[in-house]
Order: sequence, then structure tokens, then C-alpha cells
Amino acid sequence: MKTGLKIVTIGGGSSYTPELIEGFINYHNELPVREIWLVDVEEGKEKLDIVGNLAKRMVKKAGVSIEIHLTLDRKEALKSADFVTTQFRVGMLDARGKDERIPLKHGVLGQETNGPGGLFKALRTIPVILDICREMEELCPNAWLINFTNPAGMVTEAVLRYSTIKKVVGLCNVPIGMEMGVASLLGVDPNRVRINFAGLNHMVYGLDVFVDGVSVKDQVISLLTDPDKSITMQNIHAMGWEPEFLKALDVLPCPYHHYYYKSGEMLAEELKNFKEGGTRAEVVKKLEDELFELYKDPNLAIKPPQLEKRGGAYYSEAAVRLIHSIYTDKRDIQTVNTRNNGAISSLPADSAVEVSCIITSTGPKPLAMGELPIYVNGLVQQIKSFERAAIDAAVSGDYRTALLAMSINPLVPSDRIAKIILDEMLEAHKKYLPQFSMKGV
Ligand code: G6P
Repeated sequence: MKTGLKIVTIGGGSSYTPELIEGFINYHNELPVREIWLVDVEEGKEKLDIVGNLAKRMVKKAGVSIEIHLTLDRKEALKSADFVTTQFRVGMLDARGKDERIPLKHGVLGQETNGPGGLFKALRTIPVILDICREMEELCPNAWLINFTNPAGMVTEAVLRYSTIKKVVGLCNVPIGMEMGVASLLGVDPNRVRINFAGLNHMVYGLDVFVDGVSVKDQVISLLTDPDKSITMQNIHAMGWEPEFLKALDVLPCPYHHYYYKSGEMLAEELKNFKEGGTRAEVVKKLEDELFELYKDPNLAIKPPQLEKRGGAYYSEAAVRLIHSIYTDKRDIQTVNTRNNGAISSLPADSAVEVSCIITSTGPKPLAMGELPIYVNGLVQQIKSFERAAIDAAVSGDYRTALLAMSINPLVPSDRIAKIILDEMLEAHKKYLPQFSMKGV
């Protein structure tokens, strides 16, 4: 008889893996993980070995009986898995650098998951996740797919639309990060804070904010009108919101809204960084080199605090909490990317949305949020249209659909500039976009 859970992590050589291992160690009494398989591709082998050996030292030091397996053979790993987590980056950080730099060259925001960068990350990633789903159908059809790979919302929707895997949940650290941010603004324990979230991944709003069940939204908005106070992530340069704007908006924006409500300033900031030292991919590359140097140390057996300089803080907490609640049918509230099913009535029922859900053993059940407020609904709808076009282009390899996605993105100023950037990026990334080259583009 099988005892304990088999977890498979695709993109196991990621610098974030110690986050995840730490989470499984912390929850070990309640979540009986028997084995974790870290899987990567040939180009990631060196990183997989380094981080995998650290993972082995971490479980040993913690005294928990979790076996760590390292492999380049995804199919071998997937056999009879209970949970498959995905955290891979097609083309690694070099591809991210191109996503950031090429748009900037043309005066357009270059960001990992927003604008042209987000489109190309989707185009590279979606075919790979669909391959993984096909393998899961064969090798572990009952497993849950917990996707952290960005763009997490689009990847989740692609799985829902284009594969038979329905046990899929997309996860991001923005909601948990915002709850932690509110807790620290108010000086209260994070367990007392709950935000009603609704929207899309990296486009989510806090519709209401509670401490011990009592709404504190107005107080939080008021605190955030102080330019020295903000809720942000390590990877996003925080700029205070215009106080009167924030009050008028009357919901809590997420850190990624900086790119939409402060487009000019954020672009100027990115261009400055680009000229002075490099884009976020270069910063992250340096951080990763430092992290992997630390990970190599045979005496290191815990997650090093330096990992917190990355944008993905609280991933372990979010991921392991989610897996735990599915496994134990806990029915607590967490915010994930899942099929809307009418929870946000102003978005299509069959779309992926990021929304507060009750987490059960049969998956997330979204809480009814009604219509999004009219003043934010327009932007969310436009991003959803962009996402649909991007997903369809990723699957079909259709040039026109990709151009449509690029042109309707609110961060791209014109169809002509969209075409210039699209052509340059298709060429730069062609190694990872076989669906387009097969069509002779
Ligand atoms: C935030 C986002 C993640 C993203 C990360 C990037 O946390 O929510 O989706 O992966 O930032 O951080 P990085 O350190 O790679 O720039």
C-alpha cells in the first residue's frame, strides 16, 4: 500500500526550490510527503544538482523522512505522482532578458509578465505546459497540477481550455504578499487579515480588507495615501499612489497595477535602469549567481535569507498551504487562479481568474464576488481579451493572432509598434517558438 505523497517539481533546478522544500519541512507533521522529485532539462542540470543537494541537506538537518530524487527524465518522475508543481522558465533568464530589453528599445515597457514580455513568456511556456499535461494524462491522471510558472493566469487558462487536465490550480504570491503587507501596515498578525480578492493574475484587486472579520479597507487605503507607505514586491519599484486617485478607486490595487496606473513613470524608471546597469533579468542573474554560490556550500542546510531579495517571497507558504488544504479538505480561504464559474459575473465563466476560494479536496470553489466595480472592470476586461489572444496564439502559432494580442495590450501604444516588436521578438526567441517557425514565420 502506498503511504505518503509523491510530489514532482518541474523546473526543480530553480533558485526558488529551497523555498518549497522549507515549506514541506514545516508542514511535515500534517502533510505526509514521502518523496519529492526535482526535474529539470539538460541545460539546467548543473543548477539541479546544486539545489538538489541543498534540498537533501535541508531534509536531513530537519530530520524528516522525505526522499529527494533528482532527474532529467520527466516521464519517469511523473509516474503515479500525487501533486505536480511547475516552476520552469523556458529559455531561462536569457529569454527573460530579451523580453525586457527588446520592448524597451522601442520605448515600450519591458516586463516579465506584462506587455510584450508577458505575451512572449506565454508563447514559449504554453506549449510546454500542454506537453506536460499530455504526459500527466498518461502517467498520473489523478494528480493535481499546481502551476507557479508565469504568466500563471494564462498558463492556467491554457490548461483548462486546451487539455483534459481539470485538476489544475495556478498560484501566485501577490495575494499572500498583499495580506502580509496589510498586516505589517496595521501592525497586526497576518493570520487576522483577509482580503476579498478578484481579478486576474498580476491584475488582482482587493475588493475589501478585513481584520478579524471587520472591514478595514478605508483605513488601509488611507494609510496608503502616505507616500512613504506601500505594499509592494521586491521586483517592483514602489511609487506612492496619488492619494485622491487611490481614494476614488476605492479598492486595493496590486503592486503590478503600477505598470498600468503609472505607465509613464514605470517606463522611465525601467529605461533608466536599462541604460545604467541592466534590466531585472540581469539583477536576478547576479542574485542567482550569488545564491548558487551559497547553495554549493556543503555546510548550508537551510534556505538562505538572501533568497528573500527575489520577488517570489512567500511562495513556499502559499504553495504548501494550498497542497495541504487540498489534501486535508481543509475548506479554508485562499486566493488562486482557477475557472471563474460565474464567481466574477463580469468575466466569462470559462476563463481563469484570480479569486478568493474555499479550498476543498475537489479543488478551489471561488467565492461569489459579483461584478467588478465599473471603474476597474474596463482594464480587467481588456487584459482578459489580451490573455485570450495570447493563449490562442501560443497554441495555434498564428501570426495574426499574436499581432492582435500585442496590439490590444494596453501597454503597447500602436499596431505599428506592436508589429515591429513582435517581429523582432519572434526572431529573437525562435528557438523556443517552434509553433511559429513551422508556419514559416
Ligand atoms: C513576483 C511575482 C512572481 C514573479 C516574481 C519575479 O513575486 O508575483 O510571479 O515570479 O515576482 O521576481 P524576480 O525576483 O524573478 O524578479
